[in-house]
Amino acid sequence: MSAAASLVLHGFDPLALRAEFPVFAANPGLIFLDTAASAQKPNAVIDGLSDFYRSDYANIHRGVYALSMRASERYDAGRETVRRFLNAADTSEIVFVRGATEAINLVAQTWGERFLREGDEVIISPLEHHSNIVPWQMLRDRLGIVLSVAPLTADGGFDLDGFAAMLSRRTKLVAMTHVANVTGLVLPVAEIISLAHGVGAKVLLDGCQAAPRLNVDVQALDCDFYLFSGHKCYGPTGIGALYAKRDILDTMPPWHGGGDMIDTVTYARTTYQAPPARFEAGTPDIAGVIGLDFALRFIESLGREAIVEHEVALTREAQHRLAALPGVRLIGAGPGCVGVVSFLVDGIHPHDLGTILDKFRIALRTGQHCAQPLMDALGITSTARISFGAYSDVSDIDALIAAIGKAQKMFGVALGAHRCRHSTPTNRAHRWKPR
Ligand code: ALA
Repeated sequence: MSAAASLVLHGFDPLALRAEFPVFAANPGLIFLDTAASAQKPNAVIDGLSDFYRSDYANIHRGVYALSMRASERYDAGRETVRRFLNAADTSEIVFVRGATEAINLVAQTWGERFLREGDEVIISPLEHHSNIVPWQMLRDRLGIVLSVAPLTADGGFDLDGFAAMLSRRTKLVAMTHVANVTGLVLPVAEIISLAHGVGAKVLLDGCQAAPRLNVDVQALDCDFYLFSGHKCYGPTGIGALYAKRDILDTMPPWHGGGDMIDTVTYARTTYQAPPARFEAGTPDIAGVIGLDFALRFIESLGREAIVEHEVALTREAQHRLAALPGVRLIGAGPGCVGVVSFLVDGIHPHDLGTILDKFRIALRTGQHCAQPLMDALGITSTARISFGAYSDVSDIDALIAAIGKAQKMFGVALGAHRCRHSTPTNRAHRWKPR
């Protein structure tokens, strides 16, 4: 057993845990290395959702009958679970949304529209997913704000000094990922927040890749906004959460208008509910919240620290094993990364590699990973990306390494036999060398 395997087994047994994930029984031999795109679902979530629809389902906050009140209680309990999961001070600071993308758009179109003026600056990191770029570009085009990008270090990291030098009194918001979806880099968020607050800027953190892997504490972080998607946390698609400090939510105008977000309505005038109801117009994704509740409690049952340990151990093992393979180059990898490893194989386009690995039942993501500007900055057009979850095991890495070797043989690009069959533009990628 390798050192990594013994570490992995320290907290919980990922192979035993697979019994809780029916996808593995339904797909024998599946080696699922794409949890960063979306996590598989445990029985707790699948059965919990199904039981809710069977026994407790009705619309919420509208009925005086027992079934509706029971459904409302369960929905409200889901908010308490998210509060606990993020260690927010109060449930009123948790707004349910469709996912991270909607959360960022909500902040841009409510807080941003109300408080940002022409010339104000929003700074993002160079490692962002499109969902934390495009909403700010749209706001720039509407309001004339300045959208700035913090610098990347030569090895694909976050340049904290370069970021610090950019800050000024015109910086009103710093919007950054907590863990980068392409490289798994954990950004120095404590320093980022402290520096941003020093010039009076608010900080939004995209916790999509962090929430399933790290022990997130929004009060300790002192971030102003934090958001994540449920489906990456073993929960259903179509549900996520936005945390915002209560005093900030209180100042934000409503976004969507409709039922449940109002206090009184006349044809002349409407008044609105206090947060979080103000931001949850219409019948929400009730079952999604119930499923998210089960998913977050599933994570808690494994132990947040055990998950961190597991993800870190697998990440180190994968980095180490991939780096040792001839013709394989890691992208932006280092000791500060968790859960995600991006790489290139000389002479094999990532999409071709993904297609070949699929023949070995290995599921991984290839392409830009919704981070085209990062790819441009790195001088590449795509990567192959593996990512881990609680059910990931060191044997998955063994299988990946063996399958990459077979793919290299098929393409004739094994050690000393470089014969590139591809002249696609992505071969440009192979010129980029992390320093
Ligand atoms: N944001 C998801 C990913 O990085 C879809 O794959």
